[in-house]
Amino acid sequence: MAFEMVGVVGLGTMGAGIAEVFARAGLRVIGVEADADALARGRGHLERSTQRAVDRGRLDGPGRDRILGLITLTTSREDLRDADLAVEAIPEILDHKIGLFRDLDRICKPQTVLATNTSSLPVTALAAATGRPGRVVGMHFFNPAPVMKLVEVVGTVVTDDGLPAEIAELAARLGKTPVTVGDRAGFVVNRLLLPYLNHAAVLLEQCVAGRDDIDAAMTRGAGLPMGPFQLLDLIGLDTAYEVMGVLFDETRDRRHAPAPLLRELVAARLLGRKTGRGFHGDEPMRREPEKSSVITFGVDGPDPAGIGERLRAAGFKSSDEPDVILRAADRPVIEHAVQLRDPAKLVGVRVVGDRVAELAATILTSPEAARCARDLMKVIGLTPVACRDRAGFVTDALLYPYLNDAVRMYESGYASIGDIDTAMRLGCGYPAGPFETLETIGLAVVRDGLRALYAEYREPAYAPAPLLDQLVTAGVRAFPRP
Ligand code: 3HC
Repeated sequence: MAFEMVGVVGLGTMGAGIAEVFARAGLRVIGVEADADALARGRGHLERSTQRAVDRGRLDGPGRDRILGLITLTTSREDLRDADLAVEAIPEILDHKIGLFRDLDRICKPQTVLATNTSSLPVTALAAATGRPGRVVGMHFFNPAPVMKLVEVVGTVVTDDGLPAEIAELAARLGKTPVTVGDRAGFVVNRLLLPYLNHAAVLLEQCVAGRDDIDAAMTRGAGLPMGPFQLLDLIGLDTAYEVMGVLFDETRDRRHAPAPLLRELVAARLLGRKTGRGFHGDEPMRREPEKSSVITFGVDGPDPAGIGERLRAAGFKSSDEPDVILRAADRPVIEHAVQLRDPAKLVGVRVVGDRVAELAATILTSPEAARCARDLMKVIGLTPVACRDRAGFVTDALLYPYLNDAVRMYESGYASIGDIDTAMRLGCGYPAGPFETLETIGLAVVRDGLRALYAEYREPAYAPAPLLDQLVTAGVRAFPRP
């Protein structure tokens, strides 16, 4: 089917981005909003986004005018009668979406494809609400839609044969890479991404580490484009909360229960970028704590990252009566601390990617020793990430369960290794997909790290996925790919 005229219903951040993507590819777009105010906000999104491209030299004035000229804005759904495809991007409320699909089914010509950009609601339920279930699909874009290259194309058990392939072709025409999957809550990306974001909120709530430390660990340490709290603010905390609720309803996995902190922020209408404040926002700039003028240090045990040498090269002195004792560790250090004469001085140090130093303070570590450790790491060019003395510290505690979830997803037959890797790279801008990351870190390292997390938290989902365990046992270092 030739898709030339496309309707987009809902012109919030995602809907406006989707309308822009279609218009950039030369398709005519009818953008629909509920009322004049919402329409004006939608127009504002479109104008700002295209102006931003002009400002960056990615688009010229006539190019912007051509894109905006292809988009007609209206408050009447009836204007979609001639559309070849209608994509909905309204808030994640199933009843509202069902109502909209019934309307679209009545208004649009019989062959029109009805698509939903839902983050996690069942596409099948929307299909069943119409008289054309075979012509209903999911077409899931990622925020910011003009930038992120992935589109998840979701077919249901009643979708017409061949339609997902046609929609995938359309996505390619938009300059996107399609990944075609079945109708499961969260599809590929949200199923892997949102539990990780939720887990970050739980770590924050449990005071394992602070907001900026967690964001720094995942950007500078793990190399992700945004920290979990920056990303939650981009996605919108209300959307994240809704997706977690849907995931929990489907899986009953307690890790999928939305973090109470998310609920609190949503109730307070601190929804992230769209309301100007979420995890990040209005707060006053944090003042850097005063640096201690003289710090002496000791190193306890082996020092694979050469911290002692780097500190001495920077002019710091090791001492028998140090202000802080640093111990290289990839697991909690409290057992070592209690063997020391002065356990209050011990801080565990784990260097991640030679950019971040995770600094584990035990229940006995003094605030002064923790502060000294932070200052010392900055001097040798490492970003300090202060955390409590817990298995996995911050980076591994957040990364390894996500990697394990990806292996379980593949094991369940839902998606291929290649599709999962592509989806996470292109949907979230990750430098590598989870299987590529697993192979880089080492399957055995991740398996052992998961075992340590499991031993500490007794969380069933942290038990290494059987496939991961078996590959390690068999001495295999890579996942089987066709
Ligand atoms: N709208 C339009 N364009 C934008 C934009 C926006 N909101 N934000 C950034 N851009 C463009 C910039 O104009 C720039 O384009 P150019 O290269 O052509 O000049 C490009 O994106 C890079 O922008 P910046 O240099 O300003 O910023 P960064 O390099 O920091 O990249 C980012 C910004 C692309 C957002 C990057 O940080 C990233 O990939 N973050 C991860 C985002 C992510 O994970 N999205 C998925 C969320 S999950 C989801 O949406 C699913 C839903 O169901 C919940």
